[in-house]
Amino acid sequence: MSKPVLTTESGAPVADNQNSASAGVGGPLLIQDQHLLEKLARFNRERIPERVVHARGSGAYGYFEVTDDVTDHTHADFLGEIGKRTEVFLRFSTVADSLGGADAVRDPRGFAVKFYTEDGNYDLVGNNTPVFFIKDPVKFPDFIHSQKRDPFTGRQEPDNVWDFWGHSPEATHQVTWLMGDRGIPASYRHMDGFGSHTYQWTNEAGEAFFVKYHFKTDQGIRCLTGEQAAELAGRDPNSHQTDLLQAIERGVHPSWTLYVQIMPAAEADGYRFNPFDLTKVWPHRDYPRRRVGRLVLNRNPDNVFAEVEQAAFSPNNFVPGIGPSPDKMLQGRLFAYADAHRYRLGVNHTLLAVNAPKAVPGGARNYGRDGLMAVNGQGRDAKNYEPNSYDGPVETGRPLSAPLPVAGHTGNHVAPPHTKDDDFYQAGELYRLLPEESRARLIATIAGGLSQVSRNDVVERNLAHFHAADPEYGRRVAEAVHALRED
Ligand code: HEM
Repeated sequence: MSKPVLTTESGAPVADNQNSASAGVGGPLLIQDQHLLEKLARFNRERIPERVVHARGSGAYGYFEVTDDVTDHTHADFLGEIGKRTEVFLRFSTVADSLGGADAVRDPRGFAVKFYTEDGNYDLVGNNTPVFFIKDPVKFPDFIHSQKRDPFTGRQEPDNVWDFWGHSPEATHQVTWLMGDRGIPASYRHMDGFGSHTYQWTNEAGEAFFVKYHFKTDQGIRCLTGEQAAELAGRDPNSHQTDLLQAIERGVHPSWTLYVQIMPAAEADGYRFNPFDLTKVWPHRDYPRRRVGRLVLNRNPDNVFAEVEQAAFSPNNFVPGIGPSPDKMLQGRLFAYADAHRYRLGVNHTLLAVNAPKAVPGGARNYGRDGLMAVNGQGRDAKNYEPNSYDGPVETGRPLSAPLPVAGHTGNHVAPPHTKDDDFYQAGELYRLLPEESRARLIATIAGGLSQVSRNDVVERNLAHFHAADPEYGRRVAEAVHALRED
């Protein structure tokens, strides 16, 4: 069978793909060699800015299937019927390192799900941890700066990492989580996913509920110790990618069971913890988990750049029946992601196959037009303004979710206190739940990091947080740090 002809970008046949055109046999190259110039120029443009966080990741397609009836709490169509399946794309990620970083590191993992529902795409952009380090979005850029490479030394600096945490007592819960046994998942398949924030569900009657999402891995939790991870990260920096790719290729389709915790909206104000504080969980004895469905990954992407690197998730992509809560971090994220996509991918990123709503054939139906990389057929001869007299698309008049009550004056407020709203109680509860071997490993891991900090005041500020969580926790970390610093 004859092979197809190699062409330039404009489709013209290429005469020679091994020897550049030169002036004479040994002479300099010719600017008229279109193939050479175009090939080099295109190669120079293969990379786009990487994500400012969660740069390194892996993605796969699959489906979500409803197993239990939740229609009393949400009228979301894709959750409306037992057995209903919705196509999904899931991107996992590490957070702090750049695109070329290793997978097996101590870091939270991203767990971002795009549900291609009949009402548009629903993005649930979570992590493998139920809580987070901070509770106000204004701190996010500082937090990330402290965890990524220092602009002067070009390295991640223990001084920066711990200095930020030392000034952020609210991080103690998540730091305890991250430094513990679950801090380094063995693979993306062997970890849970959480929506982390509180979201709002609204049912047909217009009643509002607050919900937290939990995806429990059906593969079982598996984690690595610091030593195992260091060895694996050196041997196969792409270990999570390898694992996910090969499992799906082998037909071993990873799955997660989705549960939700549901709080009637009227209970939010009186709950002992601020339900919109991302540094806190809702203990299951307060709000038990209810099963919703099962998420299965069964197809690898055809092109990692096109589908994984260019995947764009936004916590602001809701569908009818689901909406935001007043969680300040979530509110900040509602802005940040689509803004990042417009910078990184361009205003037309929703036209890319991985991001395009499947509900609306031909792409989103609205009056937005043009911009970089606009494609043929966007709107055709339909009017590009509204209202119009030409039967263009119109609003429904029905909000996606219930309104959130507000009170008081504008201002830079601290969140209203609930009875158990200190920064340490839940960190202490987590510590006290751990068996002795886990406590010992947690303390050794924290001490290994904290002992590298150059300033005593930074160390002491952090020790005070562990002490406030639980006196034994604080004492043991202090002893371990001091022993290492005296070495
Ligand atoms: C105010 C706080 C936060 C801000 C401003 C923020 C901002 C960002 C930005 C700008 C990106 C890169 C987006 C892109 O270029 O595609 C990103 C990615 C991501 N963030 Fe956040 N983030 C915040 C908190 C969180 C929290 C609390 C979680 C989890 C509960 C989270 C999970 C993720 C995930 C999973 C990704 C990667 C999504 C993907 O796979 O493409 N972020 N974040």
